[in-house]
Amino acid sequence: MNRRFFLTKLAAAAGTLATAKVMAQSHNMGNMSHGHSTDHNAGHHSGHGDMKMDNMDMGEMDCRLLSESALPQNLPLPDLKLLNNTSGQSGYFKASLTAKPVNVQLTPEINTEFWAYNDQIPGPAIEVFEGDTVEITLKNALPQPTTIHWHGLPVPPDQDGNPQDEIAPGETRTYKFTLPENCAGTYWYHPHGHNTVAEQAYRGLAGVFIVKPKQDLLAHIPVQNWLMSDLKLNTSGQIADNNMMDWMNGREGQYVLINGASKPHITLDKATRARLWNACSGRYLDLTLSDADIYLIGTDGGLIEQPHQIESLLLSPGERAEILIVPRKTGQQSLKARAYDRGKMGNPPKETTRDLAFISMKQDSLPTLPKQLHTLANIGKAASVKTLEYTEIMENGKGLSGIQFLINGKKHDLNRVDLTSKVGEVEEWEIFNNSHMDHNFHIHGSQFTIVSHQLDGKTRKPEYICHKDTVNLKPYERVRIKIVQQHKGLRMYHCHILEHETLGMMGQLEVV
Ligand code: C2O
Ligand code: CU
Ligand code: CU
Repeated sequence: MNRRFFLTKLAAAAGTLATAKVMAQSHNMGNMSHGHSTDHNAGHHSGHGDMKMDNMDMGEMDCRLLSESALPQNLPLPDLKLLNNTSGQSGYFKASLTAKPVNVQLTPEINTEFWAYNDQIPGPAIEVFEGDTVEITLKNALPQPTTIHWHGLPVPPDQDGNPQDEIAPGETRTYKFTLPENCAGTYWYHPHGHNTVAEQAYRGLAGVFIVKPKQDLLAHIPVQNWLMSDLKLNTSGQIADNNMMDWMNGREGQYVLINGASKPHITLDKATRARLWNACSGRYLDLTLSDADIYLIGTDGGLIEQPHQIESLLLSPGERAEILIVPRKTGQQSLKARAYDRGKMGNPPKETTRDLAFISMKQDSLPTLPKQLHTLANIGKAASVKTLEYTEIMENGKGLSGIQFLINGKKHDLNRVDLTSKVGEVEEWEIFNNSHMDHNFHIHGSQFTIVSHQLDGKTRKPEYICHKDTVNLKPYERVRIKIVQQHKGLRMYHCHILEHETLGMMGQLEVV
């Protein structure tokens, strides 16, 4: 594969995606290759009013963005407002959502058009119990078709917002499903239409979906919810379109929001359980917090069996975790996302560590915990094996249409079934990232357990069992997972860097 290429005629890019917006500029876009420039200065966001577009560095394409300090910081962390349950019946959650454009006054000077669920950024938080029946009606008041996908939840395919089941603008549809017992966990919801996911997500459409256990063994520990999302605003305060860098690498804006706020102030009065979501389009979050003991207690699909002490936590786009934060000292610290090199293409700016939030902590000791947080049943031996291979193709001179992210050599096709599985049959899937960049793997409808990671000739077993629906793969890593399908129908699997998914790094599994 030719990794060094020269993109010309970017205008030719527009052809492939009907609805995705691309940069409409017909300039030479510079030498695009993997790796980081060493001479790139961090101030590339400012000034370049008369920039020369010819032969420009790809990193300079973001020069017309608001400064990072344009949004207020250090304000109290906003709560996630709950979606109102109108059913009045126990075990039944009934609610409605409207997806529509909304203007948000971010500061006295900045009025930004978002696309939002019920006018809220992020969308309203859905909280239900395992075993509940959920009925949610979505009205689509967007200028595009949409769906809602219940990321990670074990819902039947025909209720899971597949791209085949789009709701046209102006139309309404009701999603209804009953959650099984024993699925308590930290999920979320977001659009999943055809070719529109990247845009609808970066315009603001996403919300958390928490499934609570009937019996909460950790009820004595306070909980905070931190939904981390990405925002990229141009100098007029509007959400910027994706540029070529965004499409190639996954979009990263100049802001990381927590519950909709930039660098908020968080107070931890005592040991706290935090649910974390990486709802960013393309940004990896390698989280650290000093002066606190951090224990991983849950992953995408719920609690793990024993608390697992960690120094840092890498969440790739779409992943979630539950952690227990035990402050060791009283004082102020910041929640940081460390520089993480994920092999971006096109001479991107050097990765830096960034503050995500300012945290005031009060020293506390480890709360009493049950001997076992959760019991994760072994699903048994795999009866069959599936293999997936991620590849990238970069062709010179073709703009966006020359960039392809493929699974088993193919781009997503709504009308093609790529793989078939049987309900109830345990399978092992081996996913091989045969590329220079980190990609992750997400599958709809079922949680999986990880069997092994293989990288640089070394095979590593996981240190603990956990339920995941999204897992990262470093370049040339192979991950083996065990999974069993519970429902018949069509399932998607894809890279959760939303630009890659939207460009077709997605496949379809028919469960029979
Ligand atoms: Cu959150 Cu198909 O994805
Ligand atoms: Cu999903
Ligand atoms: Cu990817």
